[in-house]
Amino acid sequence: MSIQTENIQKLVERREKARLGGGAKRIEAQHAKGKMTARERLALLLDEGSFEEYDMFVQHRCTNFGMDKEHFDGDGVVTGCGTIDGRLVYVFAQDFTVSGGSLSKTMSEKICKVMDMAVRNGAPVIGLNDSGGARIQEGIDALAGYGEIFERNILASGVIPQISGIFGPCAGGAVYSPALTDFTLMVKNTSYMFLTGPAVVKSVTGEDVTQEDLGGASVHSSKSGVAHFAASSEEEGIATIKDLLSFLPQNNMEEAPRVETSDPVSRVEDLLNEIVPDNPNKAYDMYKVIGCIVDDGRFLEVHKDYAKNIIVGFAHMGGRSVGIVANQPAILAGALDINASRKASRFVRFCDAFNIPLVTLVDVPGFLCGTTQEYGAIITNGAKLLYAYGEATVPKVTVTLRKSYGGAHIVMSCKQLRGDINYAWPSANIAVMGADGAVNVLYAKDIKADPEHASEIFEKKKKEYNDLFSNPYQAAQKGYIDDVIEPRNTRFRVIRALEQLALKKQDIPAKKHDNLPL
Ligand code: HXC
Repeated sequence: MSIQTENIQKLVERREKARLGGGAKRIEAQHAKGKMTARERLALLLDEGSFEEYDMFVQHRCTNFGMDKEHFDGDGVVTGCGTIDGRLVYVFAQDFTVSGGSLSKTMSEKICKVMDMAVRNGAPVIGLNDSGGARIQEGIDALAGYGEIFERNILASGVIPQISGIFGPCAGGAVYSPALTDFTLMVKNTSYMFLTGPAVVKSVTGEDVTQEDLGGASVHSSKSGVAHFAASSEEEGIATIKDLLSFLPQNNMEEAPRVETSDPVSRVEDLLNEIVPDNPNKAYDMYKVIGCIVDDGRFLEVHKDYAKNIIVGFAHMGGRSVGIVANQPAILAGALDINASRKASRFVRFCDAFNIPLVTLVDVPGFLCGTTQEYGAIITNGAKLLYAYGEATVPKVTVTLRKSYGGAHIVMSCKQLRGDINYAWPSANIAVMGADGAVNVLYAKDIKADPEHASEIFEKKKKEYNDLFSNPYQAAQKGYIDDVIEPRNTRFRVIRALEQLALKKQDIPAKKHDNLPL
């Protein structure tokens, strides 16, 4: 064998060994937990044969606690780039079989390298996390590594899409990087996110809690809102990440890819003419409206199980990627509360940062009132959504289906927040508040003065109020609504509006950065 052949043989062997990460036994243990390895996940995520790996031979430099005797090529993370549906992405996947995927300084250097490349080359970065947090043996070096990653997450925010998949336990520093990214996906039953695990919680607070109840996918997708997606399996999680990417541009200088659609732009949906019940207190399902107007009824919902009184997600309309924000009258009558405001404002800001037009479907009775909301700062949180819509410069098309009252009317992409095209259905009511509340404020004295005829007065005044405001024409007469449209034509009218706005240019005043109410 020539020296060169021998060298090549050594390379092949070393690569093979590196690909085993922490070794066959630990891979078996990973599989036994129902989890894939880092490499298996990447193989599923990326187009076949597209993975270009970097830093396969990197090793940690720690000498504490016997670590100088324990080296694995790659040091617990697989990094590189590849393509998804032919589009470039940068990736890192933590390998739990090496020191529990814990973060060493060298691991952070590998991750930072691909993050820097992603920003330089204008491509999304996807992190598949499975990590016990800072590598305890490395002390401050591991913490410094997290700092380096966080800083890059922050600088890349709004420049390239950043997506985090949580595919195992993620503790300590391992949760803050995902929290800084645009979207976090968790896998039910096998992934956890918490600052400190159950043992530490017990010792600090005395609370007994399981990993699942402390930071499982269902907790974070429905209670805390930390996770945007909860998948039933790793396969489903990876498929969701790919689906999500199909709606996003590569970076903030580009538009999301246009897709071919066989769904006619001019499709009318008679169902929509009937969907709003005659009784204003009766609910209907906003998902049906979304399903009727988007291409092929396909909608990728974000935060599906969190703050269900507002719906946000991606769809295509006429082949264009759009962000849909819609009140859901079937939950809390569609009222805006703290969580709904936080959820929608984050989504609106993402769409605005990445040139994705916003389509807003309005049926909102107002902000949810009461001490729980006030003590929780509904004022500041509601202001987030107001702020997000007001600063957004992407095309904004709004359709008011039914109620649009008070502050909530303004928040939901009204004309004065630089809404571009504002349509209303004939069933729209645009007013300061609903009739019952208004009559109670305006005629409380009259009603009190004549208790015998109280209900008569109430009904008479309610009718007067409804005659004036229970329609879209007050707003349309003043140009606050651009047109009153037949519900069944909504798809066609929205797509035509988006076409007009395709080259929209709008600025915000130059500033260092804004001061969003946090
Ligand atoms: C070094 C670690 C580690 C860590 C796990 N391992 N976490 N090694 N540093 N942080 C190692 C284990 O020693 C073990 O090594 C292997 O990974 C697998 O771990 P197990 O405990 O056997 O696995 P499992 O039972 O599945 O439990 C996983 C776990 C648990 C829940 C993640 O390991 C755990 O609680 N780890 C510590 C989590 C934590 O508190 N991290 C916070 C760090 S502080 P062997 O050799 O036996 O296979 C932090 C602060 C940063 O991150 C703050 C920045 C803002």
